[in-house]
Amino acid sequence: MIKALFVVSECAPLVKTGGLADVAGALPVALAEHGVAVRVLLPGYRTVLSQIDKAEVVETYAGLFGGAAKLLACRLAGVDLLILDAPHLYDRDGAIYANATGNDWPDNPERFAALCKVAAQIAKDGAGGWTPDLVHGHDWQAGLTPEYLHDLNQPTPFVFTIHNIAFHGNADASKLKTLDLEPTRFTADHFEFWGQISALKAGLIGATKINTVSQTYAEELLTPEFGIGMDGVLAARRADVLGIVNGIDLEAWNPETDPNIQTYKTAAGKAANKKTLRKTFGLRPSKGPLYVLVSRLTEQKGIDLLLEALPSLLADGGQLALLGSGDPRLEIALLEAADGHENVAVKIGYDEQLSHQMMAGGDVILVPSRFEPCGLTQLYGLRYGTVPLVALTGGLADTVINASPAALARGVATGVQFFPITAQALANALERINELFKDRKTWKKMQQNAMKQPVGWQTSAAAYHDLYVSALETTK
Ligand code: ADP
Ligand code: GLC
Repeated sequence: MIKALFVVSECAPLVKTGGLADVAGALPVALAEHGVAVRVLLPGYRTVLSQIDKAEVVETYAGLFGGAAKLLACRLAGVDLLILDAPHLYDRDGAIYANATGNDWPDNPERFAALCKVAAQIAKDGAGGWTPDLVHGHDWQAGLTPEYLHDLNQPTPFVFTIHNIAFHGNADASKLKTLDLEPTRFTADHFEFWGQISALKAGLIGATKINTVSQTYAEELLTPEFGIGMDGVLAARRADVLGIVNGIDLEAWNPETDPNIQTYKTAAGKAANKKTLRKTFGLRPSKGPLYVLVSRLTEQKGIDLLLEALPSLLADGGQLALLGSGDPRLEIALLEAADGHENVAVKIGYDEQLSHQMMAGGDVILVPSRFEPCGLTQLYGLRYGTVPLVALTGGLADTVINASPAALARGVATGVQFFPITAQALANALERINELFKDRKTWKKMQQNAMKQPVGWQTSAAAYHDLYVSALETTK
């Protein structure tokens, strides 16, 4: 039995802004079947604490970056949680990373450094009698953990997963003291990055093993285009960088049992859901495919490309139902598109239940991302027989089988990929989908292939287990 401590800033179903939360909620359950006991260390945001009714105080910390803190242990949705209750850092109105006006909390460096400091402390002294064999950190929010382990002279291995390298978690050099970091290590070979403190770099340099969430993204990260300044740091650690594709929670996302939809076993059952979905979005019946898109609205997700390629989507009676929130400029542009076209419907917001209904009722799930470390909505789409139309990048390249003539002839295609990642190539792909959709036999076959594709955690959880074993061996 391996004991692993996850250090992560969000975890479904308690608190979620994106796929990181899905992974943090589902991977521990999958790892249990491989002999790994995970406890998830999570910030005690107001929203998290309000959902916990029974928890045990297992540790207390007198002074944690400006206030007292407690560590609470509880179990929820099959996951053992350690919640860092530090009101001065986490008990506030607003979102988990940003205030009501959408700006990052100015004390984000302290908020997540605190999580890392407590993780290192748990590695050394345990929590309520439980001491992990290794620490598994996710994204920059966990990046400072190896620094604090080093300062405590604690050799516990640290596995670092990159879900998205675009976020570096930089802090001003003046915070060295506040964050209780060792000033002699503020150098280019540790956590200094262009004059700032970089939590991400600290994690990349200090990790025993590094992985990211797909094979293709692991390769892309080594290039300047995708490495976003960290490609050099990663190249130096190339031998320790691995790609392990994400899975999805097969219970939460199961068209045969999903309580949010009209359940179905074969794609034929989608018809009833499509009818409901059209009603929900105020769309009229139409002969073309119903495209769905569920996403954070950011530059990464290629929403602007879709807006440019919209005429190709709408040709032949295609329709778009989109759910998302984020960049106000994208929100406005989308609402304008919906105003201008009767076959475009947009809901701005975050709605878990509606996202299930969209997977069930859509014909095509769109993911036109400029980069995508893994991507989960195309996996949900596959499971629900909703054919993915995706950019050829990262995990989207690894999880979809493009409907090339060869793949169609072999009867293995599950979706359509486009490259280069431009509005023109996306427009061509939309036209290709419109054609394929008319060929009912081919379309049905693609849906069947999609629904058969294994998208659970089984294989990837085994890969994480092996990664843990190799990290433990490295530090022996
Ligand atoms: P990322 O983590 O980059 O946002 P992923 O595809 O890995 O991208 O994960 C996004 C997750 O967030 C999925 O579970 C998706 O369904 C969910 N999601 C994103 N936006 C919304 C929204 N507006 N409403 C409901 N769920 C959303
Ligand atoms: C990130 C990535 C996304 C990935 C998710 C979970 O947010 O943008 O591609 O699926 O993390 O690993």
